[in-house]
Amino acid sequence: MNIIENIEQSKRDFFEDKTVLVTGGAGFIGTNLVNELCNYSPKKIIIIDNLFTGLKSNIPIFDFVDFVEGSVENFDLVFDLMKKCDIVFHLAVRNIIVSTKDPEKDFATNAIGTFNILESARRLKNIKKIVYTSSSSVYGNTSHLPITENDSLYALNPYAASKLTGEAYCNAYFETYMVPVSVVRYTNVCGPYSNPSNPYSGVISKFIYSALNNQPITIHGDGEQTRDFTYVDDTIEATISVAISDKSIGEIYNVGTGVETSINNLAKIILEILNTSKSEINHIDKRDIDNIRRRVLDIEKIRKSLRWTPKVTLRDGLVETINWIIKTSGKGI
Ligand SMILES: NC(=O)c1ccc[n+]([C@@H]2O[C@H](COP(=O)([O-])OP(=O)(O)OC[C@H]3O[C@@H](n4cnc5c(N)ncnc54)[C@H](O)[C@@H]3O)[C@@H](O)[C@H]2O)c1
Repeated sequence: MNIIENIEQSKRDFFEDKTVLVTGGAGFIGTNLVNELCNYSPKKIIIIDNLFTGLKSNIPIFDFVDFVEGSVENFDLVFDLMKKCDIVFHLAVRNIIVSTKDPEKDFATNAIGTFNILESARRLKNIKKIVYTSSSSVYGNTSHLPITENDSLYALNPYAASKLTGEAYCNAYFETYMVPVSVVRYTNVCGPYSNPSNPYSGVISKFIYSALNNQPITIHGDGEQTRDFTYVDDTIEATISVAISDKSIGEIYNVGTGVETSINNLAKIILEILNTSKSEINHIDKRDIDNIRRRVLDIEKIRKSLRWTPKVTLRDGLVETINWIIKTSGKGI
């Protein structure tokens, strides 16, 4: 067996007797995670999602996959589902765009929902690992780049505040009650199931959708703001590595690529790939959420500790994402 076969076998061994709860499992990253988990034939996968942005049609049909339509804000429901579970991947979220419009609902899902998971684990004592999916938005604008896990944290919007609140409870429940929780801080993720028809979907699927439809690609601000774009397969691999490792309990990991890309450059690469598109780039005013100028993550901690490293380049990830959007929308270019 080579190293890769060994890693795959260790994942199968880990999950074969486990019941896994995935909150937000009908959303973008959750769907990719559930699909990957299905490859490891766990005893059971339970998905809880209120279908706020997620789609029921994303859920794979297997006898070991159960879907529960409900909210992580409902403590009794969360507690009841977690009774049967060993591992929890907590991805249910109100995302940044909608959270700014309705910060109260954002708090209810992102902060109270996370509290409900942790408090259920504290009472039940059966959970072997919770992976809380946080966001690099908790850093705000840092004084230097790339950003390490030890850099200062500053919430610049309600979404960042609620994600940071979730993290604070993860730390508190680990330190006080030994709840086995790990935190992953994702950067901007792209890939299949990031649905461009979802009004809250990220910049990449919006740009691709515009390019495929020969509509202007709209950039908020001067476009020189930067982000660290990660392909979803890499994000999922990191998340699963964190879940199966004993070393990761009580730890926080950046999950990104370490590569900084401006929004102007992102649009340029998409138009290079879709080179028959007639779309032009159009700059408009910044939005209230556009207050992070530069972001790129230092990923040495997860690289050294769990031997995870991103494999997919931005261009290759964009090609995969474009192919998925073309396939699912029936659009050829
Ligand atoms: N997509 C990114 O670029 C990105 C970046 C940083 C962090 N993250 C984190 O990754 C996780 C997943 O994000 P995503 O991009 O897949 O988002 P998404 O919006 O596609 O998925 C979130 C899912 O949660 C569900 N949901 C919303 N409120 C709920 C509630 N009260 N109860 C149960 N389910 C609820 C939605 O219906 C949806 O299916 C989140 O924790 C998010 O903070 C994502």
